[in-house]
Amino acid sequence: MILAVCLNPALDVTYAVTALRPGTSVRVRSVQRRAGGKGVNVASVLHQQGVAAIVTGPAGGSAGTDLTAGLDSAGIGHRFTPIAGATRQTVAVVDADDATVLLEPGPVLTNAEWTAFTTSFADLAHEADVVTMSGSLPGGVPGDAYGRLIGLAHAAGTRVILDCDGSALIEALHDAPDVVKINEHEAASTTGIETDSAEGVFAAAEELHALGAKEIVITRGAHGVAARTGQGRFASTPAGTVDGNPTGAGDAFTAGLAAAMAAGLDWPARLRRASAWAAAAVAIPTAGAIDPGVATDHETRTIVQELPA
Ligand SMILES: Nc1ncnc2c1ncn2[C@@H]1O[C@H](COP(=O)(O)OP(=O)(O)OP(=O)(O)O)[C@@H](O)[C@H]1O
Ligand SMILES: [Mg+2]
Repeated sequence: MILAVCLNPALDVTYAVTALRPGTSVRVRSVQRRAGGKGVNVASVLHQQGVAAIVTGPAGGSAGTDLTAGLDSAGIGHRFTPIAGATRQTVAVVDADDATVLLEPGPVLTNAEWTAFTTSFADLAHEADVVTMSGSLPGGVPGDAYGRLIGLAHAAGTRVILDCDGSALIEALHDAPDVVKINEHEAASTTGIETDSAEGVFAAAEELHALGAKEIVITRGAHGVAARTGQGRFASTPAGTVDGNPTGAGDAFTAGLAAAMAAGLDWPARLRRASAWAAAAVAIPTAGAIDPGVATDHETRTIVQELPA
């Protein structure tokens, strides 16, 4: 089982309107509500691909209830710790020209709620082959929240893939995450190294290794991936550029990587599967879903090149 940590999940609400004019009353033509947040996307892609996954995090309020009900109806396994605060909603108002997105601030956890979550997490980690940790931290949790969870996962004998940025990432590096998966912009802002060339990306990966990450995968959108691993340095290039919505491609990448690690595949095969699932996410407009045909096709055709040490 893959355990997907989602500390700051969201209920994603989409309002379709004919034309959004600020300062007026606008009739909504249709409303869509779906479970969102990066860890939810990871679990959702794994579930779609037939890989057992459980998503875990804190959830509260009516948005939290809608979130877990949405996961239930999709058949996605979850174990959320109840909190008094309300899970955040993101509201996208979409008209013919544009999308306007309103992001709620999200809940603040109490110490007791954080402790209850970590206790539940430590239990679940024993059953997990791989743990993924994705996205921002909610209020009220310690700055080194991911580091503490990495410690608990390692105590349970489980490997961790970490996808976050800013101070949440810097703090977590002290606790030796097994794989850090970030994009080139996050790698640049974390290390201060320019990542607009292949050399720069690998230099940033080297710096992240020096800061504590065991293995590092830096995604570069349609340019592919740079990986600094215990098996060597690799560059992968997508089998082709897919047109569509790249939001959530990174989460599908993390899902494919976790599935491949759990299946015992080596790094070239991990990068082929992860890149294929990521490309297949671009083909589908909503985050958390992938096109299975693109995934199968790209997994055989994605090029992974080993670079000299
Ligand atoms: N247009 C595309 N065609 C094919 N593959 C793509 C395309 N865009 C992205 N990918 C694949 O998806 C991977 C992840 O993309 P990206 O670097 O944009 O992730 P990200 O910024 O973490 O995404 P997010 O955080 O929105 O989920 C890339 O390394 C690449 O393999
Ligand atoms: Mg990302």
